[in-house]
Amino acid sequence: MARIDRIWPEPASDLSDDDLLEQTRMPEGQRWLRMNFISSLDGAATHEGRSGGLGDPADRRLFELLRWPADVVLLGAGTARIEEYDDLRLDDAAVRWREERGMPPHPVLALVSRRLELDPASPVFTDAPVRPIVCTVPSAPPERHAALAEVADIIETGDEYVDPARLCDELADRGLRHVHSEGGPSLFGSFLDAGVVDALHLTLAPRVEGETTRRITAHGPAAPVGMRLASVLRAESELLLHYVRE
Ligand SMILES: NC(=O)c1ccc[n+]([C@@H]2O[C@H](COP(=O)([O-])OP(=O)(O)OC[C@H]3O[C@@H](n4cnc5c(N)ncnc54)[C@H](OP(=O)(O)O)[C@@H]3O)[C@@H](O)[C@H]2O)c1
Repeated sequence: MARIDRIWPEPASDLSDDDLLEQTRMPEGQRWLRMNFISSLDGAATHEGRSGGLGDPADRRLFELLRWPADVVLLGAGTARIEEYDDLRLDDAAVRWREERGMPPHPVLALVSRRLELDPASPVFTDAPVRPIVCTVPSAPPERHAALAEVADIIETGDEYVDPARLCDELADRGLRHVHSEGGPSLFGSFLDAGVVDALHLTLAPRVEGETTRRITAHGPAAPVGMRLASVLRAESELLLHYVRE
């Protein structure tokens, strides 16, 4: 298992999964939306078009653990398409951990899209352990809406784009109060702009990618958003940073 140390606030060596879960807890009884991203030292969000190319086993370890306490894992359609997501199914240890806490075995996967270019026959839907949610706009193409409604619950909010604040209300009404998002940049931009992002887990990969067009935000926010450092973890030369909104 990839070793992860804490260097701030209290230094600690070789954190266990339980330490990491405690360290990254979402506040109980409170709605919370956090984002998880990886960036190179010079701000690139991808290597050869994908985020996975930037990561290492320590980043992957934390990436997986961050899903454990989530009621819902939220994803932009672009990331689902490019990173070729399949069904969101946690491993046995995660399922045990959740069931011990009275949680359902798996979080719900929620995909955000206005064009609905999502394949209802993909494993994201057909192999899902829990019926996924598709978050879209009322003006989305009706045939695609109908096809996806066969395999997912549909939430419609907003006008041209999904309204992040109203979407979070809709999710909370379904008991999905702890939202963990794996991106991507357009989703992050629009959710930051709407003021609904509470925290950011950012892995700083120890490499310089050079020229890139992709950063971890796109299309927003309109004004800078201040964040406060909550913890710093380290895996060799990589930093795993946790920020919460000011
Ligand atoms: N470094 C990292 O940690 C990280 C994480 C995730 C992704 N990525 C990378 O980011 C790239 C993808 O970027 P992206 O900006 O396309 O990702 P994205 O935010 O996941 O997807 C954008 C798409 O999501 C939908 N969307 C997002 N916000 C929306 C809103 N408010 N209302 C309605 N629809 C919304 C739209 O889908 P439709 O087009 O279907 O309408 C939009 O085209 C990939 O290369 C991926 O590898 C990097």
